[in-house]
Amino acid sequence: MTLRDSHNRIIRDLRISLTDRCNFRCFYCLPSGEPPLARKETILTFEEIEYISEIFVGLGIEKIRLTGGEPMLRRNIEDLIEKIARLKNSGEKAAADDGAVQNPQTEPGDPRLLDLALTTNGFALPERAKNLKKAGLDRVTISLDSLKQENFERITGVDKLEDVLAAIEAAQIAGLSPVKINAVIVRNRNDDELAEFARFAREKDLKMRFIEFMPLDAGHGWSREMIVSGREMFEKINKIYPLVLKEKSRGNETAWKYNFADGAPGEIGIIAPVTEMFCGACSRIRLTADGQIRTCLFSTAEHNLRDVVRGGASRGEIIEYIKSVAAQKEARHTINDVKFSPASRSMSFIGG
Ligand code: GTP
Ligand code: 5AD
Ligand code: SF4
Repeated sequence: MTLRDSHNRIIRDLRISLTDRCNFRCFYCLPSGEPPLARKETILTFEEIEYISEIFVGLGIEKIRLTGGEPMLRRNIEDLIEKIARLKNSGEKAAADDGAVQNPQTEPGDPRLLDLALTTNGFALPERAKNLKKAGLDRVTISLDSLKQENFERITGVDKLEDVLAAIEAAQIAGLSPVKINAVIVRNRNDDELAEFARFAREKDLKMRFIEFMPLDAGHGWSREMIVSGREMFEKINKIYPLVLKEKSRGNETAWKYNFADGAPGEIGIIAPVTEMFCGACSRIRLTADGQIRTCLFSTAEHNLRDVVRGGASRGEIIEYIKSVAAQKEARHTINDVKFSPASRSMSFIGG
């Protein structure tokens, strides 16, 4: 079974936000603190997330990314990871584990989860990276928007550069790899650090992701002049560290990926949703912490899966509901249209 939208795109990638809270204050996301938070009783429990994830995997979802807010603020996230990671066991794996059937529902060839990732600001990783790996997490993406202490604080509102650098190291040591780094590049904020970031990626063997600033900030401070285009980012880096394109096609990925021409370790990825829209190959669907399905980052309406699940719908009814929602996925974002309607929620609720 696959989830298909009305533009004939297959949905294989589910992003689950675990909380709308965050302990950082990145200006491109939460410039003036959190907007009103969801009420506690509306937040999905781990059991509900596990059940919903299992249904989605049955519908052909292969990748799950846990996001936030800051997902590590959710207590005992390791327990949830353990539950979701069980969806990676195929029937073959279960049978091979001398008698210890891990997931009795699956048969060889059944759909299963292939990749479980987490996007985090890193604050909790130094202590917990090892346990996350043990629980079954495959890899992490860590947000890091400046390598300079003062600028880091100006961007994130917290003095935690050293902690995030320690988080990156801890993630690598724990084998949560490939470790990816997200940097949202904004004019006059951190565009002078592109080459420094590239050097960092080479030295530490990291996959950098440079991202164009999108109008998803809670404070609505976004303006077109603040965008540094993917092309400009590429040129600035390529001038100092020549790059070679890895693959001619992006498939349904967001980033153009480059190796260093001199064979140095590390990878540069450029994500340009505004100037080089990639919606035509989008395979993503999102679930907010309070159980709303978002079919696009820029959706102006949401679909209340929480009420369907809590209302006692049967498994079959939930599947039908998810299929009907997926079919309504937007063709593309409208950032570049004269009539752009902002998304109904900011990035702190959606999680990237
Ligand atoms: P993996 O392939 O899962 O490792 O992820 P990735 O390299 O595509 O990066 P990730 O999914 O972590 O996304 C990085 C950033 O790209 C997000 O934080 C968003 O800013 C942006 N992004 C991701 N998905 C979308 C999308 O569907 N639409 C748009 N417009 N931007 C996206
Ligand atoms: N534009 C682009 N990317 C953003 N992110 C957050 N807000 C924005 C924005 N306005 C990305 C950050 C973070 C991830 C969760 O989402 O890179 O790592
Ligand atoms: Fe997919 Fe919407 Fe992102 Fe376009 S903007 S790539 S349709 S989620």
